[in-house]
Amino acid sequence: MIDENIINQIKEFSKKPSLFNKKCGNIWTEEYIANQMLKAHIDPNFDGASRRAVIINKTIDFLTRNVLKENSSILDLGCGPGLYDEKLCQRGYKVTGIDFSINSINYAKNSAEKQGLNIKYKCNNFFELNYSEEFDTVMQIYGEINTFSDSERSKFFNIVKNSLKPNGLFIFDVSTPTLRKKCGLKKNWYVGNSGFWRDKIHLVLENGFQYDNDIWLDQYIVADNNGVQVYRNWFHDYTVKTISEIIQNSGFKIINILGNLTGEILKEDSEWIAIIAQKK
Ligand SMILES: C[S@@+](CC[C@H](N)C(=O)[O-])C[C@H]1O[C@@H](n2cnc3c(N)ncnc32)[C@H](O)[C@@H]1O
Repeated sequence: MIDENIINQIKEFSKKPSLFNKKCGNIWTEEYIANQMLKAHIDPNFDGASRRAVIINKTIDFLTRNVLKENSSILDLGCGPGLYDEKLCQRGYKVTGIDFSINSINYAKNSAEKQGLNIKYKCNNFFELNYSEEFDTVMQIYGEINTFSDSERSKFFNIVKNSLKPNGLFIFDVSTPTLRKKCGLKKNWYVGNSGFWRDKIHLVLENGFQYDNDIWLDQYIVADNNGVQVYRNWFHDYTVKTISEIIQNSGFKIINILGNLTGEILKEDSEWIAIIAQKK
């Protein structure tokens, strides 16, 4: 017999939540899921938590040849296991990587140590940073900005601005509504024994919600013998027009807009927009 409590919790979580309600589990920091995320990050053939190795290599080639000043300092916000940071350090850049996933930071530190790479890694929430004009470049790669509410995004852009030296560069990418059109809204359920969410038998109910202004929620309700938890992945997609206006009103001037950080030209149906901006 199913516990009535469980049914009621599932019923509550199934209602459309208020915009950017983040009262839920954290996919980056909950130990079991963070471990699964780490596996996804370091899989070289999977565009999961990080992009595939071939794309990362192309990104580094493009940025180092065309954008970054030689031997300059770089702050990588949401660095994950440091896949970009190691390559940048190998090419002479002074790199600091920040992430609030202890799993990813420990992996990054060990990996850098093994290779004799001098990278500063810190396990911090990037919303709590207070650097002052220390870096030539701040980067955030793979769409984390899409997951911010408007107020989080303003706060984040201020942190980036404060961290940059005068005329410093801010490099980031965001997904567009074209990507969402391809992925669609979540609507699925399954019972698993051991998988991404849990290492024991569990039920996963996936559902998606659409909001105004290209905002979407992918929601996962996960039930096991310990109870019910909900995970919410919010996405605010941007068009060239919406992200350009925001970045220019946030104290940056746009240097280049591309289809992605490997340097591809932006097209009308690009799934990503990459921005190279400069602190005004
Ligand atoms: C999509 S992954 C991208 C990782 C890395 N940039 C890459 O492309 O390989 C987003 C990363 O941001 C980190 N992150 C999310 N929110 C954060 C926060 N508030 N403070 C610090 N790190 C955060 C996550 O732990 C995760 O490693």
